[in-house]
Amino acid sequence: MVQSTSPMVVVANRLPFVLKKNEATGLFERKQSAGGLVTAVAPVVVETGGLWVGWSGLHLEGKEVVIPEADPSDKSPTAGLKSEQVIPVNIESQLFDDYYNGQCNATFWPLFHSMPDRAVFNEDKWKAYRKVNEEFARLTVVAVKKLTERNPEQVPLVWLQDYHLLLAANSIRAACDEQGLRVKIAFFLHIPFPSWDIMRLFPWDDELLQGILGCDSIGFHIEDYCLNFIDCCQRRLGCRVDREQMLVEHNSFTVGVHPLPISIPYERFCQMAMAAPQVVKNNEKMQIILGVDRLDYTKGLTHRIKAFEHLLEKYPEHKENVTFLQIAVPSRTDVKEYQELKENLDQMIGRINGRFSTPNWSPIRYIYGCISHDQLAAFYRDSSVALVTPLRDGMNLVAKEYVACQTGDPGVLVLSPFAGAGNSMLEALQVNPFETNDFSDTIHRALTMPKDEKELRMRQLQRRERERDVEFWLQSFLKSVDCLKDDPAKKGTM
Ligand code: G6P
Repeated sequence: MVQSTSPMVVVANRLPFVLKKNEATGLFERKQSAGGLVTAVAPVVVETGGLWVGWSGLHLEGKEVVIPEADPSDKSPTAGLKSEQVIPVNIESQLFDDYYNGQCNATFWPLFHSMPDRAVFNEDKWKAYRKVNEEFARLTVVAVKKLTERNPEQVPLVWLQDYHLLLAANSIRAACDEQGLRVKIAFFLHIPFPSWDIMRLFPWDDELLQGILGCDSIGFHIEDYCLNFIDCCQRRLGCRVDREQMLVEHNSFTVGVHPLPISIPYERFCQMAMAAPQVVKNNEKMQIILGVDRLDYTKGLTHRIKAFEHLLEKYPEHKENVTFLQIAVPSRTDVKEYQELKENLDQMIGRINGRFSTPNWSPIRYIYGCISHDQLAAFYRDSSVALVTPLRDGMNLVAKEYVACQTGDPGVLVLSPFAGAGNSMLEALQVNPFETNDFSDTIHRALTMPKDEKELRMRQLQRRERERDVEFWLQSFLKSVDCLKDDPAKKGTM
């Protein structure tokens, strides 16, 4: 367990659990949400007596959300989080829609993934985003005040998460200054940070960059994203920067920029894979190719299916011997682009299955929905090949989960270089998802790879991921915030 010296206030768009109404009692109950961030960070919030500020997933239109205590049977990482440690953000639905579906997911998501043609620029959505960030900031200051009253000696650490909260830092700092509250503010972006060429398309890019620079410490997954950010600060705001030390000077403060590649609870996945019952039928000859993604256009699902179709054309020996299993988790279903992608996928899969299926075999199995963690671990473990081939992705944790679950005969990871994970998982077979012919050759190579080579590649991937797990990420983050403004002795200067 990582120790933190400061009590932590995590501020994220979502709370670390979902609230579900129990129809029988009419009361809300917590439902686990399983992301890596929650697994890693919730225990630190619990340990430091910190707080979590986030949207409850409900729209109660002015009514207060009462956070229930965890069920006594709850074994999840958030079980230790008391209701008083949770501050729900309640936003009325129209405003929330403009902020979340509009600004966050119809503008920032495509823009930050370097897909500007899909991005919508709309001043009303930007105004809604500002307003919602202010509300998050207001409640964060309530949290800081609570912690300071409890222990005036300790400086709370506010940790803002992701592209939903790019503007919150300055409002938090201004309000804390006004109320005489000391605070450290850190930020972590879970998606890529694009190059200056892309960022400059956003009409309010200066305001956005200044918003991020309101933090003391800024984390991105990989060095490329850090350098993109530093570049934008220099070119758009004229900041003095140091690329070697990754520092940006702004308003006479020096802000540290840190590459912090996020990871997974490796041992937990490993254990799950060892314990999970078989889900794939025992058929020696049939090889499973697996894809697991949120249904999102950044994940390159249509490119992947096209490559699989080409594989069947070019290497007919795989017919009846290979099944492609794609699990697509529904996501952002109110956004038009996501609805269109879903229709597109349904059609493509239907057409390919119609074209190649035989009485005993269908080439593609498609699950549109969620599956349990145990089932997922078993699918990972029992698949010969995993295709993690996004067009662009901040990190991609599926690649890491697949590796952790190779507890039996190892499979082969096929990975796009356009995922942050491609930076370090060098023993995977790399493939450009846009090159259909090469993509299908790479799947063929993965399916026919000698056992020795598979083992060599997988053992090396496992060694690295076991060591650099999510605890390592959290520890690196906590080290990086040691050099904050509140600690001038340790603070980096230019
Ligand atoms: C990405 C983002 C997260 C987000 C998740 C699911 O991983 O970086 O911040 O929570 O997608 O998306 P959703 O819109 O459902 O929260």
